[in-house]
Amino acid sequence: MLACVCEHTRAQGKAARVMTQPPISEAIQRSLRVFPGASNGEFNLPPELSIVIHRGKGCELRDSSGASYLDFSMGWGSVLVGHGNPHVTEAVIRQAALGANFAYVNENSLALGEELCRLSPACERVRFCASGTEATMYCQRLARAFTGRRKILKFEGAYHGANEVGVTSLFPQRLLAFPKADPSSAGIPPAVVDDILVAPYNDSVTAAEIIAAHADELAGVIVEPLQRCTPPKEGFLQSLRATCDAHDVPLIFDEVVTGFRLAYGGAQAYYGVTPDLVAYGKALGGGYPIGAFGGRAEIMDLVREEQLGKPQYVWVASTLGGNPISTAAARAALTVFQEPDCFQRLHDLGHYLRNGMRQILDEHQQSAQVIGDGPLAQVVFSTEPVYDYRSTKMGDSVKGRALMLALFRRKVFLNPMGTKLYLSIAHTQSICDMFLERFADSLQAVNAGKE
Ligand SMILES: Cc1ncc(COP(=O)(O)O)c(C=O)c1O
Repeated sequence: MLACVCEHTRAQGKAARVMTQPPISEAIQRSLRVFPGASNGEFNLPPELSIVIHRGKGCELRDSSGASYLDFSMGWGSVLVGHGNPHVTEAVIRQAALGANFAYVNENSLALGEELCRLSPACERVRFCASGTEATMYCQRLARAFTGRRKILKFEGAYHGANEVGVTSLFPQRLLAFPKADPSSAGIPPAVVDDILVAPYNDSVTAAEIIAAHADELAGVIVEPLQRCTPPKEGFLQSLRATCDAHDVPLIFDEVVTGFRLAYGGAQAYYGVTPDLVAYGKALGGGYPIGAFGGRAEIMDLVREEQLGKPQYVWVASTLGGNPISTAAARAALTVFQEPDCFQRLHDLGHYLRNGMRQILDEHQQSAQVIGDGPLAQVVFSTEPVYDYRSTKMGDSVKGRALMLALFRRKVFLNPMGTKLYLSIAHTQSICDMFLERFADSLQAVNAGKE
């Protein structure tokens, strides 16, 4: 299968270099009519680049016109197992005939819950929901209920899903003095923004100062252990853990991206730091809708119904959370992740891709760097050290977007916001080589002002 993908995509890579712009197809016109920006998510493509996806296999996508793409988004990282993974597909088909949803504990959700409590150092108890957005939202609510405090501290530029904390100070245009928050979306009441404190990622000293100054009103600290594509500095997460302990503030890890991607035990195992609460999503579901959150039993037990009416009771409900199809898919995905060398392969491949990109950027004498860890990569057009939102923002984002769109024109499917490239277990070195060929070609075209 992969050999056939390679031949096909290689031929398409050549064809793509001719750069003839196809007319906007009927499917895209329909999509433009019904979806704002012909998009269902965070990013819009220019109409002439917009596509309607027909199917995926491994790391190849086909659009409705039959064109083939190398997928370097992989459902925003949710399909780490690869599109149409046979283990996941078989588990889903088997379960589909036995019922799609019971909104109650079922054999699949029970076995998955047990495995999460086994693999995740933080999880003594767990609950399922249907997305990462819900999972981080419930962690915040639990932290507020447990401490009886209101404020949540997040790090500037971090994404925790589409909830209020997730989209505040996500892409701040105004670089306010810390810890003042700035909403990145309309529709967030000012009172909610006032309850969000913001610190610079990777700055233990400033974070500790803010936590100490606001300890008696601080319900929790939420962090992406590897923020977007920026790794934590040595000791940053450990210092955060120690500061939270010193002030009795729960620490929340948003492992929606890092979970099952950096290691089987996620960022907790990879960096050796255990939070009080943790949120999962994306890769856990093997491409199917899932969210999970868990943590210390004394915090998680606030959701038990006998607490109803008591001040600390926390409402948690999800019609589709823990549904037997998503949890069957997740169980199958976990068996794939437990195969020998799975994570070594993902790390080696990420290394190979990032090094290949660096080499090409050097050959073209670009002031740029490639950041990331594990199977993640991102180009930043800056030679200054990148360690937080503000240092990333120093980069030339216009050039970054032009490069992403140039890659898209050469049939690499990705998020043109220039955030992350996601690899999966279906990617290989030869797929990365094809990507790198298109990357070099795209860079040349952008530098020549042809894009
Ligand atoms: C770190 C992080 N947390 C939470 C989310 C939200 O997950 P979902 O899109 O499943 O709601 C995302 C999504 O990209 C994410 O990257």
